[in-house]
Amino acid sequence: MSNAIEQKRRIEQKLLDKARDTEYRRRLGQFATPFEMAQEIAAYSVSLLNSQQIRFLEPAVGTGAFYSAVLALEGRPEITEALGFEIDDEVVHAARRIWDNGIKIINADFTRETPDSKQINLLISNPPYVRHHYLATDEKMRMQRIIESTLGIHVSGLSGLYCYFMLLAHKWLDANAVSAWLVPSEFMDVNYGAAVKRYLLDKVRLVRIHRYDPAKLMFDDALVSSAVVWFVNEPTAEDYPVEFTFGGTIENPDQHKTLQRSLLSVERKWTRFPEHDTRQLISSQPKIKDVFEVKRGIATGDNSFFILDKNKVDALGLKHDYLTPIIPSPRHLDVTELFADESGNPKIESPLYLIDCNLPEHLIKTLYPELFDYLQSGIGSVSNRYLCKAKRCWYQQEQRKPAPILCTYMGRGAKGGAAPFRFILNHSRAIATNSYLMLYPKEAYRLTLATNPSILKNIWTGLNNLPAEHLVSEGRVYGGGLKKIEPKELGEVVCTGSFEPLSLELDFAAG
Ligand SMILES: C[S@@+](CC[C@H](N)C(=O)[O-])C[C@H]1O[C@@H](n2cnc3c(N)ncnc32)[C@H](O)[C@@H]1O
Repeated sequence: MSNAIEQKRRIEQKLLDKARDTEYRRRLGQFATPFEMAQEIAAYSVSLLNSQQIRFLEPAVGTGAFYSAVLALEGRPEITEALGFEIDDEVVHAARRIWDNGIKIINADFTRETPDSKQINLLISNPPYVRHHYLATDEKMRMQRIIESTLGIHVSGLSGLYCYFMLLAHKWLDANAVSAWLVPSEFMDVNYGAAVKRYLLDKVRLVRIHRYDPAKLMFDDALVSSAVVWFVNEPTAEDYPVEFTFGGTIENPDQHKTLQRSLLSVERKWTRFPEHDTRQLISSQPKIKDVFEVKRGIATGDNSFFILDKNKVDALGLKHDYLTPIIPSPRHLDVTELFADESGNPKIESPLYLIDCNLPEHLIKTLYPELFDYLQSGIGSVSNRYLCKAKRCWYQQEQRKPAPILCTYMGRGAKGGAAPFRFILNHSRAIATNSYLMLYPKEAYRLTLATNPSILKNIWTGLNNLPAEHLVSEGRVYGGGLKKIEPKELGEVVCTGSFEPLSLELDFAAG
């Protein structure tokens, strides 16, 4: 392949990405595969192929990252046929400009297509990751019916479009065809992934799953952590080894484990591999720490200096570039659900802002003279306070992301056994001081909770309904009846019932 074509493809892809906003791209699942990633996936896929010819399919072709990567492989078999489907007209035009005599680009919805014969022996795809709530019910039902009749597998209505793609593509595959799917790793754990897992274990021969390290972001869609699934259309009733790898590169993963297919059919949580073995027990007594990481809010060093109300912000002429909304202390917040305006600021009577600027002083002086003047007023007083003195620069703040649930961890509790602590559902982007504990969903649950607000809401309701003694027994009681619970202690609170909404979607991992 001439490098010039790949260059041209990258430019076309960049122009397309630029012209579309994130919401549009989410609806169509338009997150292009970086070429280096496409190359390593293509190389491993072709190495599994047992044929002198390639009959290639890219069902959600975009500008053809995988086709381009296969073409570029040295010593590859001859490509005798190459087909790509793409639903978006403009993407189709761009792809045709690039591949005028390469892959045949068909402008169609792949989920509606049927081949004349099982013609494909190599399929590589990064299918659209469109989440289920963007899919129309009748569309889901249409695809479910086809899959039920061709594979005898029922697909849950909570499945993302990528699951339908994987299963609908089966009818294109010739015997021994190799498939590689770059998909969200979520299917490995959640209930709706059962259909894909059944397909991988019963209808084809699963070869390998490589999970990318979620700490190293692959796509602009920050919620997605990705995996590549390879399988061969060669079903067998026998047991066989499947490879699980994690991190690093496909050629040189950071972790590696081989598991028998028979084990995979009893272990529902596949992201345990390769790091862990199969589970010994599934906890029926889930604790807060199983689902959330509990962190204390930030210690500013001097709330009265660093946290300002709107009047003060206006009077000082401070700018929102370095102000982060922050939640008032529990004494001044009487709600348990904190709503947000369009910018994500909490909808409360007197919003507060934290001065959150980690720039060196000389830059602040140039960029934000109004902030510089204000900070000057704290030198010698605030700057000498214990916590401020310990920081690299005295006005610097700890960095925290907004947490979807907060807990007021000190209180007496009303008479009649009411819980002394409140759980607050936070829809805003405000962070909190150390008068709160912040509950962050653990990685395995992050996506589910971010995309299913009703599950999060049910959990929050469950937490607020926990019997007071459950919370108090993990915490401490001080003289005068003041009760307090520390982050670690809150993590130990057992919440049978409160996490039921989540267990509909996910298993509870014991470790
Ligand atoms: C995740 S992107 C991948 C593009 C390309 N294969 C790559 O790896 O860079 C998915 C592509 O599928 C297209 N798409 C979405 N729904 C589709 C459908 N029902 N049929 C065909 N293509 C679709 C999107 O427009 C987008 O270009």
